[in-house]
Amino acid sequence: MIPPKPAARPDKVSLRQYAKLFRQDILSAQPARLYRAWMAEFRTPFFRSYLLNQPGLVKAVLKDRPDDFPKSSRISEGLRPLLGNSVFLSNGETWKRQRRIIDPAFEGGRLRDTFPAMWDAAKAAVARLEGQTDQPVEIEEVTSHAAADVIFRTLFSIPIEHEVAERVFAGFRAYQREQPILNIAAFIPLPRWVPRFHSRRTKATAAEIRGLIGQLTAQRMTEIKMGTAPNDLATKIMTTADPLTGEKFDTEEMVDQVAIFFLAGHETSASALAWTLYLMALYPDWQDKVATEAQALAGCDFSIMARLKVSRDVFREALRLYPPVPMMVREATCPEQFRDRKVPKGAQLVLSPWHLHRHERLWDNPDGFDPGRWQTENGKTCQREAYMPFSAGPRVCTGAGFAMVEGPLILSMLLQRFRVESIAGRDPVPVAHLTVRSRNGIWLKLTLR
Ligand code: HEM
Repeated sequence: MIPPKPAARPDKVSLRQYAKLFRQDILSAQPARLYRAWMAEFRTPFFRSYLLNQPGLVKAVLKDRPDDFPKSSRISEGLRPLLGNSVFLSNGETWKRQRRIIDPAFEGGRLRDTFPAMWDAAKAAVARLEGQTDQPVEIEEVTSHAAADVIFRTLFSIPIEHEVAERVFAGFRAYQREQPILNIAAFIPLPRWVPRFHSRRTKATAAEIRGLIGQLTAQRMTEIKMGTAPNDLATKIMTTADPLTGEKFDTEEMVDQVAIFFLAGHETSASALAWTLYLMALYPDWQDKVATEAQALAGCDFSIMARLKVSRDVFREALRLYPPVPMMVREATCPEQFRDRKVPKGAQLVLSPWHLHRHERLWDNPDGFDPGRWQTENGKTCQREAYMPFSAGPRVCTGAGFAMVEGPLILSMLLQRFRVESIAGRDPVPVAHLTVRSRNGIWLKLTLR
């Protein structure tokens, strides 16, 4: 048995069919040969895009020469009204300055300070579910709620039940329904002279969310000045000066960053946790191992994380099979030669965790669920060379360390309390929305352990 994988499309389809398939779902729009190819080319009337699916090529783009391959602006158009000039969209010197201010807040040592807020959010998630046992539960909803709670507690020291937090959460959901992060423009792009329209609704929703976040940051600025601010991520980021220029974020720029922390931090973790829980229902032997290990969870103590090894391996394997960010796009700023192909300036380069993580020439048992693989030679090599759920190189996810604490902690805490089972006839089908989700939700039944 292998866990759900979307059906691939036939090898040859017309551009029109491709566009149609793509609009429905980016994952099933791809042919099966991409799980074996090192590189592939998509020709369109306007320009070309290339899938880079070989570890050496991915390394060249993300790690060795990142400045030559900036983030493609086409892919980010849909998010611009919401995220402004956030670190997720910026490039060049602006991006470097922003990372110098943000990175210290996410350093390894700071995770210890952030941990109690995550612990409280995990406890709250368990408590909310106690009233929902022995009935079908849509688990993406549950994990979204939990991950949003983690972000608000760690960033602003407020729970999701806080009035502003609740309104921001609702606003983001509305925005995502209107503007998928990966839009067709990246693969079958329009020429640059075609203006990009955002609907009035999209703009209004973005303005509302930004207004609410503005309230939170303005209030925090006052608390910082009065010396009463809590020691959380927002305070850390707002008080850190760029070591090179001495500048701090102004209010507007801070709103951009908070918006992306919220978006990048909760959608992704929610997707990863929902798939992990589903995999636990499919593989009860692994579920029992996580639950046994979770008996060690007692009081809030960061050192417990070093002992949640099975939980970490399981979460890592779920991120391999269902990477929340399935594809990333960069742009070539000069002509390149990749393998035997000439790649023109301006070409879109697609890096696909989805395909690399299931590459048939690299991984043993590529489509199988096997958390034990991380202890094998093949697993260790592939983890270094063909595993990038958080991207890689200087532009790696700022929240990677954070997510690798949050995910295993919430997973362990849930399985310490509940057993999860799948529901006959409700097998999820992966599709790429903002992140990799299931077409009709992920349904599970929880019972008390
Ligand atoms: C399982 C959870 C997560 C996954 C799989 C994930 C994945 C990723 C990936 C693949 C990127 C690179 C996107 C690209 O280059 O196009 C990224 C960037 C980013 N992520 Fe995460 N992320 C997760 C959680 C988080 C959390 C918890 C935070 C913050 C609290 C966060 C903040 C960011 C930010 C700010 C960026 C932009 C970095 C830059 O461009 O310099 N992420 N994430």
